[in-house]
Amino acid sequence: MTDSRAMVLGCSPRKDGNSDRAVQEIVHALQEQGRPVESIYLRDKKILPCIGCRKCETSRNNRCILAGKDDVQEILDNMQACEHIFFSSPIYYYHVPAVFKSLIDRGQSVYEVWAARGEPKLDLKNASCVLIAGRKKGERLFEGSLLTLKYFLHPLGFALNDLCLRGIDLKEDLERDADSRKMIRDFAVGINF
Ligand SMILES: Cc1cc2nc3c(=O)[nH]c(=O)nc-3n(C[C@H](O)[C@H](O)[C@H](O)COP(=O)(O)O)c2cc1C
Repeated sequence: MTDSRAMVLGCSPRKDGNSDRAVQEIVHALQEQGRPVESIYLRDKKILPCIGCRKCETSRNNRCILAGKDDVQEILDNMQACEHIFFSSPIYYYHVPAVFKSLIDRGQSVYEVWAARGEPKLDLKNASCVLIAGRKKGERLFEGSLLTLKYFLHPLGFALNDLCLRGIDLKEDLERDADSRKMIRDFAVGINF
């Protein structure tokens, strides 16, 4: 069952850095529109990595054997129940940080549910990601993350739109960059620029 809530996931291991600042901007922008929103930070959660056992291919309801041993099932269920989900993540080595990738890999059990149903066409809801990279250069800086997110989110029932920001590196960089913060707020409420 979907409710009207939006969920914002902060995906950086660094507390109070740029992705956390972006989470604040997204939350405030949505609240200003009177939309219910909750935020979580993945680093505060227990997220065990997928061990590749493939049990979710054949288990009842494609349940992961790690479900209930950490916070992942609750996060995935919560995401699916929301109308709109947001991610705010730094780029680490041309991809997302390990804590975020661990959550993504655990999405395999959701993929198996979708596959077992014959890969039905889904009525996709919106997922929005803000990706933040320290470097200004690098044509393909965001490519890997965006591809991964697209295929992680599809079986969960979401289509991805993205805002990719470059040259934001030091912990206070986004705090000092009012233009980028405005871009994030506009992106959160669906204003095109
Ligand atoms: C382990 C590590 C790997 C990184 N790899 C990249 C990279 O490949 N490209 C890039 O532009 N920035 C890279 N950065 C810089 C971060 O993307 C940048 O500092 C970002 O602002 C961090 O966001 P945060 O404050 O939310 O953690 C890396 C930083 C770390 C700590």
